[in-house]
Amino acid sequence: MPNFWKKLPKPFFALAPMEEVTDTVFRQVIADLGKPDVFFTEFVNVDGLCSKGREKVIHRLQFSAKEQPIVAQIWGLMPENFYQIAKELVGMGFAGIDINMGCPEKNVIKKGACAALIENRSLAAEIITATKKGANGLPVSIKTRIGYNSIVTDDWIGFLLKQKLDALTIHGRTVREMSDVNAHWDEIGKAVKMRDELQQVHIGSDTTSTSDVKKVQTLIIGNGDVKDRADGLRKAKQYEVDGVMIGRAIFKNLWVFNSKNPNPEVSVGERLDLLLKHTRLFDTTWGNKKYFGILKKFYKIYCQGFPGASSLREKLMRAQSVAEVEEVVNEFKNNS
Ligand SMILES: Cc1cc2nc3c(=O)[nH]c(=O)nc-3n(C[C@H](O)[C@H](O)[C@H](O)COP(=O)(O)O)c2cc1C
Repeated sequence: MPNFWKKLPKPFFALAPMEEVTDTVFRQVIADLGKPDVFFTEFVNVDGLCSKGREKVIHRLQFSAKEQPIVAQIWGLMPENFYQIAKELVGMGFAGIDINMGCPEKNVIKKGACAALIENRSLAAEIITATKKGANGLPVSIKTRIGYNSIVTDDWIGFLLKQKLDALTIHGRTVREMSDVNAHWDEIGKAVKMRDELQQVHIGSDTTSTSDVKKVQTLIIGNGDVKDRADGLRKAKQYEVDGVMIGRAIFKNLWVFNSKNPNPEVSVGERLDLLLKHTRLFDTTWGNKKYFGILKKFYKIYCQGFPGASSLREKLMRAQSVAEVEEVVNEFKNNS
């Protein structure tokens, strides 16, 4: 099975998985404006997928060919469910599988999942083994943080690097830090050095064959506070990461991944056409499956920085259907 990670440019750029944001609709909008080198799905619970509640979460795995290469991000507690779902993901056409070991949400952590695994190495190892078994050669990666209560890069990232993963995304904060402090990019840089040293140790080891050396070549993706592509390129150079993941900066600039023109001149009319495109695609993709109101959070991305933007947003907040959104937008266009 071809390993897409090995074919990516250096440094490569990834759109961060963001729950209730980076669904197939938003990813398709982004793919047309400036496509990242790799997409991730929102995180999806393997235990939920293996239960009666499957229908409530399966939509998170929907994607179109336009979004390739796309990695499915999974989380949960039961290793056998990771195994079952990994097998399914192979058949669904994903380019890779990512295990979430970084989400700090209280309701997730209190179950012992995601970032709680930082403090439960034996379950973390079981989950990785089960996922790899189910993935049957499809690349397996992990997204994590640099510690739980305190920074433990040596210990935790050191442990993960020994798991022979295809890629490792490091969000440079601890769980306790949430998003309150600047990401510790120096710790991400340290992880890269650890990876490089680990390779040398393996090369020098009597007990390790050269084929094992290849397996520790985990790609490191840095994540946290990257403002734009130029900032990402600077950080990639300084900290020697293989790739950069960008999340919230997409809310400020939908063209953030566009290497040719990341800050295009876009007229108000063009912005509103994009808003309509997003709304229509949401409607044709989800119909009644998703609450229409979810769309509203995206409207600020399209409607800002021009005269009348905030009153237009207010009107859009009251719209209940695609037809009403179209009416509000067309009225605004006709009057400006
Ligand atoms: C609304 C929102 C939802 C998120 N959902 C996920 C998720 O499903 N899986 C995940 O690994 N990280 C999730 N994250 C974390 C981001 O992937 C990323 O690690 C974080 O935002 C830091 O990157 P940034 O500074 O570029 O935004 C989410 C973040 C936000 C803001």
